[in-house]
Order: sequence, then C-alpha cells, then structure tokens
Amino acid sequence: MKRIRITTEDGSPSFYSEQFNEIYHSKKGAITESDYVYINKGLAHWSSQNKQMSPKIFEMGLGTGLNAYLSYIFVVDHKISCEYFAVEKYPLSFEEVKSLDMQDVLPDSEHKHFFDQLHMVDWGGSLLQKEFLFKKIKGDFFTLDFDNQFDVLYYDAFGYHAQPEMWHETALQKCHDILAPGGVWVSYCAKGSVRRILEKIGFWLERLEGPPGKREMLRAIKKV
Ligand SMILES: C[S@@+](CC[C@H](N)C(=O)[O-])C[C@H]1O[C@@H](n2cnc3c(N)ncnc32)[C@H](O)[C@@H]1O
Repeated sequence: MKRIRITTEDGSPSFYSEQFNEIYHSKKGAITESDYVYINKGLAHWSSQNKQMSPKIFEMGLGTGLNAYLSYIFVVDHKISCEYFAVEKYPLSFEEVKSLDMQDVLPDSEHKHFFDQLHMVDWGGSLLQKEFLFKKIKGDFFTLDFDNQFDVLYYDAFGYHAQPEMWHETALQKCHDILAPGGVWVSYCAKGSVRRILEKIGFWLERLEGPPGKREMLRAIKKV
C-alpha cells in the first residue's frame, strides 16, 4: 500500500495514496482545510451552541492525525474537556508519520509533542492528556460497533470517485445512528447526492462556504 509524501500549498504535508489514487487533504493546504472544515465548522460550531459541555468527537479516518491534533489544541485553548474516538482501517506506520515532518509546520509549539504521542498510542488503546481523552480504533467503519452517542462527527473519507461506498446511504445512515440528537456531522464534501441522502435520513443540512479551492462544504445536524 504505497503512500507518497506531498507538500500542499500552505506548506503543510500530506500523502498521496496509490491504493485510492487520492490525496489525504486538499492540495490547497492540509492544515488550512483541516482547521477550517473540522475545527471551525465542526467542533467550534458545536461548542458555541453547547457552552461548558464536553463533546464526544468521532473521526472517520484518523490518517495523519491532523484533525486529532488540531482538536487537542482547541480543547486546551478553550479549557474544555473532550473524548475523541478515531477509527482507521489502513493505519500509517510510525515511519510514514515521521516522514511527514509535521512538527516543522504544526501550529502551537507548546503542544507539538501531542502529535507524536497520539501516533504512539496502541491501536485499541487510549491516552489522557490534559482534559483530552483520545482513543484509537483500528478497523472498518462499516463493521465496527459503537455504543457511544457522539456530538461531533468528522467525516473525512476519501472522495466519492475514490470510495463511493463511503457516500452511500448505508454509511451515512451509520453516521446518523451514532450521533446524539443535535449532533454535528461535518465534511469537506458538497455533493448533491450526499446532501439529499443526509436530508432523507433525518439531518438538517447547511451548505457552507468551503475551504480554499472549494466553493461549498456540508454541515448536517441530527434532528432532535
Ligand atoms: C481523506 S483521508 C483523511 C485522513 C485524516 N483524517 C487526515 O487528516 O489525515 C481518509 C482516511 O480514511 C481511512 N479509511 C478509508 N476507508 C475506511 C474505512 N472503511 N474505515 C476506516 N477508515 C477508513 C483512510 O485510510 C484514510 O486514512
């Protein structure tokens, strides 16, 4: 399973996956996309609506760990607590993680150590750092059972042409099932068919301005 390191336009690294013929982040900027789509439009949005509460966050596809790292910074900066569950079917090796040299570009030098730490956690294990409880699960999103009700769901699958099954009703229904009422599903995707399925299965949809290079993105709130 070959992955090739690339540098995106904001200077942050990502991978190109030969298996999926797809890159892990937007070419316009890995950190820029992650911060805008998942932190600002997902976690920060939920937090603004749920003052003083501790979100349970689910990430579909841990990959490079960028979303988890940026979530940690948000949680520490905002003095909240959180539980973070990340699932990954095709984990990066630690050598691949190191080859990214992510440390050179990560924001917030005080907390950079957390990026390596999250990758050192055993699959199936967890790490509590400050008020951030991080759990890592190796497996397939389709077959894993989750008994949690999550508040924020980062849906960071590869794009429709690379992984169409991730954007069909079965997968999106599973997202709905594992979210708490009022929970936020967020993704860089803006595809019309995805939006229509999300509406049909019980989400209230928002079409938001996308990150650089994308006109739109989607945020979906599970109806109460
Ligand atoms: C677009 S990449 C995003 C990765 C990550 N969020 C990041 O910021 O680096 C999609 C990720 O989903 C993972 N993935 C693909 N299919 C999956 C599945 N069925 N279950 C769990 N993870 C999956 C891939 O291995 C990859 O790491």
